[in-house]
Amino acid sequence: MKLCFLLLVNLVAFINCENILYLSNVPSPSHFIWCKSLLYSLHERGHNITALSPDIEESKEKFTFLHLNQVYSEIYNATEELNFFEFNEASPYELFMLYADASEKACRGSIKSKGYKQLLDYPDDFKFDLAFFDFTMDPCLMGILQKFKHRPLLIGLSAFHSPGQFGANLLYPAFVPGHDLLYISKMNFQERFVSALVHLLEYFMRKLLFAPLVEKVVREVHPNVEYLLDVEKTAKMYFINNNPIMNFQAPTFTNQKNVGGMQIKKPKELPEELKTIADNAKHGLVFFSLGTNVRSDSLKDEIIVKILKAFSRLDKYTFLWKFETKEKLPIALPKNVKIKDWMPQNDILSHKNTKLFISHCGLLSIQESLYYGVPVLGMPVFADQPQNALRMKELGVGEILSILEFTEDELYETLKKMLESKSYKEKGERLSRAMHDRPMTAVEEATYWSEWLMRNPDIDLEGAAADLNLFARHSFDVYTVLLAIFAVILYVLIKIEIFIIKLIFCRNNTKSSKKQKLN
Ligand SMILES: *[C@@H]1O[C@H](CO)[C@@H](O)[C@H](O)[C@H]1NC(C)=O
Ligand SMILES: *[C@@H]1O[C@H](CO)[C@@H](O)[C@H](O)[C@H]1NC(C)=O
Repeated sequence: MKLCFLLLVNLVAFINCENILYLSNVPSPSHFIWCKSLLYSLHERGHNITALSPDIEESKEKFTFLHLNQVYSEIYNATEELNFFEFNEASPYELFMLYADASEKACRGSIKSKGYKQLLDYPDDFKFDLAFFDFTMDPCLMGILQKFKHRPLLIGLSAFHSPGQFGANLLYPAFVPGHDLLYISKMNFQERFVSALVHLLEYFMRKLLFAPLVEKVVREVHPNVEYLLDVEKTAKMYFINNNPIMNFQAPTFTNQKNVGGMQIKKPKELPEELKTIADNAKHGLVFFSLGTNVRSDSLKDEIIVKILKAFSRLDKYTFLWKFETKEKLPIALPKNVKIKDWMPQNDILSHKNTKLFISHCGLLSIQESLYYGVPVLGMPVFADQPQNALRMKELGVGEILSILEFTEDELYETLKKMLESKSYKEKGERLSRAMHDRPMTAVEEATYWSEWLMRNPDIDLEGAAADLNLFARHSFDVYTVLLAIFAVILYVLIKIEIFIIKLIFCRNNTKSSKKQKLN
């Protein structure tokens, strides 16, 4: 009780309204959904928000959106139709190269954008007290920060659960599988080996490939800009979309706040039509969505047919599918299947009749399903989705099917098993209780720490680690010297032993040769 009271007093006491800047050039609606939750929370508390981003909403009082309107077109036009299903087969290295390419294009698109120019036109002495930046891809937008005479306090945000190396944090390849690897948290030696390589690859790619690529682009407009990664390093805190109940466990610095699930909202009543469908699904509702990036109607006809046929065999249950265009349906919709181009996922998952979620396993989606205790049949497409799906299986609340290769029977059997067996449901409910059991919600926590930083800008939560390079930070330099000392000692000992052995042998030999002579 005392704790609640104290927290409440703290949250209410801070009434100074500050200017807060949000910088993101990450071309992903889901990243925006996660970040904007924090922005709106700070806005509600009276702060004045300015958001520079490829995704925007309508500006209102004390909330100004500046549009990076060229980011999506730069990326999507150049690659024509982006086929996310091709990402499915890429190796970690190829994925990094795809990301690097997207990074450079997003940066090029950013600096050409209307919003970028608008922010450049702000007076140099305009004072932002705090700036957030989405650091998931690269430090491109650190260039524009240098325009302001008063450098705002900096907080890095990432809607990804383990965005590689940032700030002073350490790498833990032994129990956090590298980006995209299909490993669970308990790895054997070979897996740990690969995991370590992927972590290192990621670390060096960002430093030696991504950063220089965007640096070159930024220098075309701001020739005298500081090294962008140095600016990024001045961040005082990091907010990560990591939740200790669902993600891999790893130690973190105090300046890293694991505020996974910030986007999760108090559920609202469903819109009329959906409410009727959900309320009437007495035996259970199955929700199917491939998220915001991948369109269901871009699936091949044969795959859509297999899915619809499997659904129709489970006619006891009602299926809700986020499907974008009715015209693209190759066969008639079975009676128990409803499609819609947009659905309030959070509210559907929270409905009492929702029994199962067929999902691409984007991070936000599985956080929501865990929060509401809905088991997940994963049909991952790209990026971290396959790993997320595997993690759900490891936690006992998921199964996985390949979205490109499955049979109608496989889908039918898996759905039937998951809908009829009790274990998924019980595990889901158990994890859901744990997800709810926290002193404040994720977005309240991020809001709290944002204001904490403005109240305590001089307190250092990272310590000396920030000044050490990757190898020194892990004491690899020390271990190397220790190994070398050990090797020298071993060498000397062996030499001495050989010398002694030779001495004994030689004595014996000379004795025996003397004997021979005597004979
Ligand atoms: C809020 O920030 C904008 C800059 O984006 C500024 O023009 C405006 O004057 C600020 N409003 C208040 C009330 O401080
Ligand atoms: C897309 O690419 C074509 C040809 O390269 C170009 O003419 C067009 O202006 C581009 N569109 C956008 C929106 O950038």
